[in-house]
Amino acid sequence: MAIPVDVVIMAAGRGTRMKSRLPKVLHRLGGRALLAHVVDCAARLSARQAIVVTGHGAMEVEAACAGLTGAAGHLSLKFARQEPQLGTGHAVQQALPLLADDGVTLVLSGDVPLIQAAPLEFLLAQCGGQRLALLTLDMADPTGYGRIVRAGAAASSQVLAIVEQKDATPAQCEIREIYSGIMAVPTRLLRGWLGRLDNRNAQNEYYLTDIVRFAVADGVPVVAHQITDATQVAGINSPLQLAELERVFQRRQAMALMEQGVRLSDPARLDVRGTMTVGQDVEVDVNCIFEGQVSLADGVRIGANCVIANATIAAGAVIHPFTHIDGEKFGVQVGEGARIGPFARLRPGANLGAEVHIGNFVEVKNSTMARGAKANHLAYLGDATVGECVNYGAGSITANYDGASKHRTVIEAGVHIGSNCVLVAPVTIGAGGTVGGGSTITRDTPPGALSVARGRQVSIANWQRPVKKKD
Ligand code: UD1
Ligand code: CA
Repeated sequence: MAIPVDVVIMAAGRGTRMKSRLPKVLHRLGGRALLAHVVDCAARLSARQAIVVTGHGAMEVEAACAGLTGAAGHLSLKFARQEPQLGTGHAVQQALPLLADDGVTLVLSGDVPLIQAAPLEFLLAQCGGQRLALLTLDMADPTGYGRIVRAGAAASSQVLAIVEQKDATPAQCEIREIYSGIMAVPTRLLRGWLGRLDNRNAQNEYYLTDIVRFAVADGVPVVAHQITDATQVAGINSPLQLAELERVFQRRQAMALMEQGVRLSDPARLDVRGTMTVGQDVEVDVNCIFEGQVSLADGVRIGANCVIANATIAAGAVIHPFTHIDGEKFGVQVGEGARIGPFARLRPGANLGAEVHIGNFVEVKNSTMARGAKANHLAYLGDATVGECVNYGAGSITANYDGASKHRTVIEAGVHIGSNCVLVAPVTIGAGGTVGGGSTITRDTPPGALSVARGRQVSIANWQRPVKKKD
């Protein structure tokens, strides 16, 4: 039977260099809190539980964890408070009461978001419930990191200690192999070693890294697994590092989409802040942002500079440039072969059928449009039910709000609404009817009728315009 894994995620630090009111681990990468990425990874390892060590902004961090969805939502999450924060060893000490000795403890950091399951699984295998396994990395510039001190020069020689930069001798500072901050350790051994920590060092902190010396003293083998992908162990301490890792993360997602066949005009100019499902022959032009849950079916084309959130786009639909779609919690549906934009805005509850056309500067909210309905220019449809093949003229709006409540407008199949009309809801425009341009419609109209509601045109002959008097 596999040894149970308990993950400890250190997330109590202040994150001073972010210069933000928000706790560091709640800053977003790919639209998701840094800590959520780490919890997702722990969930993929089929860990028995994850214990998040909180301190700075503990209430906020714990509340954010409670709301986690997706993979992270299925993992048993517990919290250990660390107040004050006396170092990484002290942080793990706070989690000890929640750890059982039959397991292996995997230590992760809440601010190292791009770690993947594979190297961690390898590390856990190396630990095997017997050894102290460290994830390490060779760095051209190791400044600031803990150095891996080995018995000899050979890469395979015995690991003796981790020395923090601030405690390192000039010779140790030359070492390029660094400790990533990630280790796997048998819990029963960890418990004993944490009890022996002291803070007699340059930072007066209880260093988790000191347990390496104890392992060596106790004759417990220490193995170092070197990872080559530095981004997986890169920590975030500043807005610059956050932005850099965001690009790395987005690149990963762009690659994954292209592997599924998506044709991205430029993988460097795409941002996915959520989950995207794609069909075959999907094309996405530059500078598009996808948020929340977005689904693009076969043959969908997305023009440049679109922002699309929480939407389902059916096969063959084309979204022209500069379109903004945000379904929020009600979603937006775009039907097969529909044409949206350029410069269109689809808001929550916009449910557009097949072959619907929405043109420039048209806003649609909480409205259903049946097959073939069109609103091509400068219009607003809110709380409307629009039948098949309706043509909705330029400049027309539904007046859906009376200052207190919202009301529905029903436009039955085959209706033509002229330009610059105001449909004052609640109101129904009968099937096949026509509404003359410039009408303000306040009562239901019969099917098939032409309805006009505006001042009659008068022309006064030989009209003399006033002239300015000269003095
Ligand atoms: C730590 C390691 C160092 C390693 C580096 C990798 C120690 C002593 N040093 O250094 O060898 O190269 O990570 O990035 O472990 N935290 C707490 N409570 C605390 C202190 C820190 O929860 O009291 C959390 C932080 O929020 C952070 C993580 O632990 O998530 C690491 O802390 P940080 O101060 O960044 O460690 P480093 O000094 O960088
Ligand atoms: Ca530190």
